[in-house]
Amino acid sequence: MPPAAMHQSSTLAVPGHPSIPRHLAIIMDGNGRWATQRFLPRTAGHARGVQTVRRVVELCGRRGVKYLTLFAFSSENWRRPQEEVSLLMRLFVQTLEKEVGKLGEQGVRLRVVGDIAAFEPRLQELIRVAEARTAQNDALHLTIAANYGGRWDILQATRRMLANHPELLADPGAIEESALTPYLSMAYAPEPDLFIRTGGEQRISNFLVWQLAYTELYFTDRYWPDFSARDIDDAFEWYRTRERRFGRTSAQLAGSA
Ligand code: IPE
Ligand code: IPE
Ligand code: MG
Repeated sequence: MPPAAMHQSSTLAVPGHPSIPRHLAIIMDGNGRWATQRFLPRTAGHARGVQTVRRVVELCGRRGVKYLTLFAFSSENWRRPQEEVSLLMRLFVQTLEKEVGKLGEQGVRLRVVGDIAAFEPRLQELIRVAEARTAQNDALHLTIAANYGGRWDILQATRRMLANHPELLADPGAIEESALTPYLSMAYAPEPDLFIRTGGEQRISNFLVWQLAYTELYFTDRYWPDFSARDIDDAFEWYRTRERRFGRTSAQLAGSA
């Protein structure tokens, strides 16, 4: 059975502009450069980055963000040296083991999106347990994108849609946007209102390519381990000043105010 679409699409209906983003999506970048700058191994930057995750989760909870999505490992990050990939996996395991209890107490619901099947069985099991343990929580929906790629997401959604609706193969013209979106891996969340990328690069790097269609994009040079509560508040302040037109004109917006 296809899951029901729970949130409106920004291309099918005009969403609101809440003063604090309902959904914040972040590319946590710059760990390696943070470490290199200090003559430390890149992996020290990743370890430090976990502390920033803690800080950001806590602050987003306090500020009333409902959905926080963090890009932790892309489908292209397997191309990194094997040592670094192994360390990242170990860090993922350790963090899940250590933090899930605390997340539960904070009312955080944890989900992991991405092609989890590629991970070692122990990590897959930890993910399953963490998701189950926090499944009743609703204060903050934290999603970790791991072995995630935006193109993978669109492909897996298409495959599942067609598997459930083989009749569409005979009538492709009948495929509507609303038929596909329930199968995207973040169908449970509204589209991101705000995207932040730390570390200075101005690209999407195969993150939520479908869902970012109308998201406000914010780039900062700050490396992820240095990203502070003040930096997030700066991003929120910038976000509040944006005029989100969703295809309309400024005059139309003024008229509807
Ligand atoms: C982001 O930091 C973390 C992951 C991709 C896992 P990087 O490791 O990409 O840091 P830089 O970009 O090399 O500085
Ligand atoms: C994007 O960062 C992925 C994550 C933060 C997990 P990268 O550092 O891998 O992106 P590119 O390769 O510089 O585009
Ligand atoms: Mg990087």
